[in-house]
Amino acid sequence: MDKHFILLNTVAVLSFRCVVLAFEPSPMQDFCVADPASIAKVNGLACKDPKSVSAEDFFFSVLHLAGNTSNTFGSKVTAVNVAQVPGLNTLGISLTRIDYAPWGINPPHTHPGATEILTVLEGSLPVGFVTSNPKNRLITKVLKKGEVLVFPIGLVHYQRNMGYGNVVAIAALSSQNPGVISIDNPVFVSEPAIETYILAKAFQVDETVASLIQSKL
Ligand SMILES: *[C@@H]1O[C@H](CO)[C@@H](O)[C@H](O)[C@H]1NC(C)=O
Repeated sequence: MDKHFILLNTVAVLSFRCVVLAFEPSPMQDFCVADPASIAKVNGLACKDPKSVSAEDFFFSVLHLAGNTSNTFGSKVTAVNVAQVPGLNTLGISLTRIDYAPWGINPPHTHPGATEILTVLEGSLPVGFVTSNPKNRLITKVLKKGEVLVFPIGLVHYQRNMGYGNVVAIAALSSQNPGVISIDNPVFVSEPAIETYILAKAFQVDETVASLIQSKL
């Protein structure tokens, strides 16, 4: 066989494997509305009997309501994923509304399961994401009303409100259950806690500094 042909086939097979491994599989039926009563453990959630499915399973009614931003970060994420809308099960998509009080931030975090595409409905929103090791390049943009930015799957990203009034954004995510890993909590306030010695060494600070951060969070 021609060498180029073999190479091309290898690349095709490898990229197919990547697609299979990195993204949620396509549904094998019209829908698989999550059945909260099922004790079956599958990748995703077990399906309800299709005969008992109704419009309510695909419906969410309160995304027009502003989230309560009275918290440490001054932001609130209202999620519309498979936990709120069981009909999203197996469909590989979800939505969020994010409210930001003046000077509020959505602190650095990642979604292990989803790429995010965000648009600003109201206000002006500086955002950024960071490429993976070793370069860790920060890519930033100030989004105005109607503008859109993509946060690629798995990368650390954040948003902030520069202080001129409230900001509202809507983000779509390429998973029924994108998951979220904030950067601070898993490291500094896991249960049980990671040894302070490890945190001090990892962040190159004194152990008293590491335990101060642990206590603050
Ligand atoms: C918003 O959250 C704060 C802090 O948890 C709480 O005190 C306040 O009552 C909430 N406001 C509304 C309108 O729910």
